[in-house]
Order: sequence, then C-alpha cells, then structure tokens
Amino acid sequence: MIWHKALGKHGPEVPALGIGTWAWGDRLFWGYGGQYGEADVAAAFAAAVAAGVTFFDTAEVYGMGESERLLGRFSQSASAPIQVATKYGPLPWRLGAQAVHEAVTHSLQRLQQEVIDCYQVHWPFSFLMSQKTLLEALAKEVHRGRILTVGVSNYSTAQMREAHQTLAQWQVPLAVNQVRYSLASRQVESEGILATARELGVTILAYSPLAQGLLTGKYSAQNPPEGARKLDKRFSAKGLAQVQPLLDVLVQCAETHGRTPAQVALNWLIQQEGVIPIPGAKSARQVHENAGALGWSLSEDQVADLERVSRP
Ligand SMILES: NC(=O)c1ccc[n+]([C@@H]2O[C@H](COP(=O)([O-])OP(=O)(O)OC[C@H]3O[C@@H](n4cnc5c(N)ncnc54)[C@H](OP(=O)(O)O)[C@@H]3O)[C@@H](O)[C@H]2O)c1
Repeated sequence: MIWHKALGKHGPEVPALGIGTWAWGDRLFWGYGGQYGEADVAAAFAAAVAAGVTFFDTAEVYGMGESERLLGRFSQSASAPIQVATKYGPLPWRLGAQAVHEAVTHSLQRLQQEVIDCYQVHWPFSFLMSQKTLLEALAKEVHRGRILTVGVSNYSTAQMREAHQTLAQWQVPLAVNQVRYSLASRQVESEGILATARELGVTILAYSPLAQGLLTGKYSAQNPPEGARKLDKRFSAKGLAQVQPLLDVLVQCAETHGRTPAQVALNWLIQQEGVIPIPGAKSARQVHENAGALGWSLSEDQVADLERVSRP
C-alpha cells in the first residue's frame, strides 16, 4: 500500500517515500561505473515505478548532470508518470536572475520534462547573488509554469523563515526544506528546523535517511563500505560500536514485523508528520526493500524504544 504526503501545505501529493538518485552517475563519491552501473540504476528505476514509488530526488550536480539525464531517459519509457525534485547549485559565478533561468532550462532539458515538480536551492550560499534575487527568480519560474513548487535544502531555521517570507511576497509557498535526518542524525529536531517547518507548512525531505547505509546494519569493522565512506568516522570501528545499541533495537523491531532494519529506520521517518524520507538506492533490490517501509506502522512502544536509544 502506498501512502502519500503533500509537498508543502497545499502542494502536490507524492508518495510518502521517495528515491534518492545521487549515486546515479556519480563516480567520485559513490563509484558509479565500478560495482554498479547504468543497468543497475535502470532496474532500480523500473522497480520503483512498479512499486508505486514514483517520486525521485536528484540535483544538477549529481554526476555533473548525469543523474538528471538518466532520470530523463528512464522516464520516457516508464509505465507510470513520475514526479521529480531537483536542485539548483548557487555557484559563485552565477550572478543574476538570468543564470537561474538558464539553470532551470538545462535541468528541464536533461530531465526531458516540461515542468519540474519541486526545484530546490541546494545550499544556503549567497556569494554575489542575494537570496532575495535568487528566490524571486524562482517565484517567477513558478508563475511561468516551469516549476510547480519551490524548495530549499540545508537551510537553518532562520534561513528557512526568511525564504518563506520572500516567496510569500510573490504568493509562492515554500514547499520543502531538504535536510539530513535519520535515527542517527537528529539535529533537525534539536535545532528547531522540524518544528518551524511544521509551523510554516513546509515539508521536510529527509536525506541520508539510512545514514548512508549505516542503519541497514550491513556494515561492520570486518565489512566496511567502499570508497569515500571509509573516511567517515561513523563507519570507523568506534563509530560502528557507538551505533550498535540502535542497530540492536532496529533488529528487534524488524523481527516483530517481519521487516528489515532499513525498513524500520525509514518507517520511523514516514510516521512523522510532514516528513518524507528519500533513501538512495543503487539497485532494484535496494528499491524493493526500501519501498517495503510503506504501508505498515511501528507500535508506540517501539517508537519510544527507538527514541530512547537514538536520542543524542
Ligand atoms: N540536499 C543535500 O545536500 C543532500 C545530501 C545528501 C543526499 N541527498 C539526497 O538524499 C538521497 C539519499 O541520501 P544518501 O544517498 O546520502 O544516503 P542514504 O539514503 O542514507 O543511503 C543510501 C545508500 O545506502 C545503501 N542502501 C540503500 N538502501 C539499502 C538497502 N535497502 N539495503 C542495503 N543498503 C542500502 C546504498 O549504498 P551501498 O549499497 O553502497 O551501501 C545507498 O547508496 C540522495 O540520493 C540524494 O538524493 C541530498
């Protein structure tokens, strides 16, 4: 069973779980072209659509445009319409509204779409273009019909409030703030971002909801991840030992429901008001497993146990 949630207070409904596509085409961090490649992510796309998980998150910088290009190609022969959230990079050499217009044009071309369901500012950087100029340019794209909803990403509480106000002057709601959020990363709560998003009617897109694979329980000191994650202290022997009590509770909850730890970690996010996790997946198997986080609920006691063991 697929549950849906809105992007923003009155925005379009999307499945309550999306698919992150940073790894699709990205060689630098994820090692695309090595252990997995185009056939695997094509199968991941098809598995997602078949499961009804038709909401995808990408960005113009992922694989230097390759993630958007792959999504665009796959969507042409998809068995159902998809919804896409992509991101604009506020890079130092982008100086004015014209640069924003061109970036939207290029994303639309790569995605082979006429409208982008959700267009997010990737980071709260300003350089020589102010937030006001940037957000007003995005509001104009909404009025032109090239963007359905506007989002931000990695914005603090204050930055999110300001973006919300700027867009409101153009009768455009701020639909989403995409931030890192999982049982292993709860700064969104302690920094007030989640509470403020709820107050403003902004949906939280939770990125790295599996803590980049950590919460699946598949990594250990004997079996560390490949590539850039080797340098991440959460995957060191000490980091893995620290997360073990949480993994133990995830396993217990999973066993009760006949699920997996990854599905429990994602279900915990899905159960929260105004939160949509967007787990990355490199294969049909991972998509299939992550889609199994939908359609059932953890008990109140289990949520309390997870709270207790994961609260920083
Ligand atoms: N806005 C931002 O600044 C920002 C930053 C980061 C991410 N994002 C977005 O959020 C998405 C998700 O974040 P993320 O990719 O960083 O982390 P994540 O979703 O927590 O972890 C994804 C990784 O975990 C492993 N995995 C996923 N499902 C699995 C399963 N069922 N079983 C076993 N392993 C599984 C895969 O890597 P292995 O198989 O190699 O372990 C996969 O690439 C990204 O794709 C991107 O769209 C946005």
